[in-house]
Amino acid sequence: MIKIRSSEITPEHIYLSRRKFMVGIGALAASSALLAACGTQSSAVKEDTPKDLKISATADELGDALTPFESVTNYNNFYEFSTSKEAVASLSKDFKTSPWTVEVGGLVNKPMTYGFEDILKKFTQQERIYRLRCVEAWSMVIPWQGFPLAELLKEVEPTSQAKYVRFETLYDPEQLPGQNSAWYTWPYAEGLRLDEAMNDLAILSTGLYGKELLPQSGAPIRLVVPWKYGFKSIKSIVKIELVAEQPTSLWMAAAPNEYGFYANVNPMVDHPRWSQASERRIGEFGRRDTLPFNGYEEEVAYLYKDMDLKVNY
Ligand code: MTE
Repeated sequence: MIKIRSSEITPEHIYLSRRKFMVGIGALAASSALLAACGTQSSAVKEDTPKDLKISATADELGDALTPFESVTNYNNFYEFSTSKEAVASLSKDFKTSPWTVEVGGLVNKPMTYGFEDILKKFTQQERIYRLRCVEAWSMVIPWQGFPLAELLKEVEPTSQAKYVRFETLYDPEQLPGQNSAWYTWPYAEGLRLDEAMNDLAILSTGLYGKELLPQSGAPIRLVVPWKYGFKSIKSIVKIELVAEQPTSLWMAAAPNEYGFYANVNPMVDHPRWSQASERRIGEFGRRDTLPFNGYEEEVAYLYKDMDLKVNY
């Protein structure tokens, strides 16, 4: 059932692009025709957009235009390749993402090691249009392909001791030269509480704009948690582990006073060095207000109802 906020009696075209409206990849072309007929903001799609992109909608459920493919794939955070956002795309172009396996284990009844191809076969890929809000106060709107993380977790059957999920990126300093830097504890690691991980909005993504992920976007498989700052959305995952204790992420280890475990998008809690009240949407002039939980409050606020989010930043 789609839940609709009272403040949001939605025009049909936006209703159709709601993130909970799952578009099977095969249905993309059909829904695209429908949306065009409704006259959505086609200005989001640049003239030089690659021809093989599948664009099922041009806006998210709030009516915000998609960020052009060129920006999504040329302005990236992936410290294993570079700390320069503009350099990641070229430096990562030869990253070897096949063969690729993802090991899922820890406190589970049925540990599994999936080949990437098995993941594509086993879990039906859906489209989700999500806003990605980076802790550095810029944001994008991205049409992802992927599937709920919950589907994979249910398969391995977490035991009653499992309270958190820990994710790890490939460790391979030859291919990922940033991993030679002593500033960080490699490999990149992230974590979610198990109930957060089971929320339907959290996905494992394998593609965007109808194409498989490019290396700079976290190929072949990455996490996307749209209500949290972008650093939680770990790229190029090789290991998922169910654990009893709260995992320490790369950013928590590097600067615990700046990066907490929860990292929910929160305009009320500033980063120690800058405000989080507003953001720059890539491709737009000016700034816009940042929304609590990045605009996904209705779907996720229940997860934190007894928590002080200023303490648990
Ligand atoms: N995952 C790994 N392995 N390494 C990284 O440096 N950067 C994070 C996150 N995932 C990062 C990562 C940060 S800070 C952000 S904002 C997002 O990826 C950026 O995702 P994008 O480049 O697809 O926009």
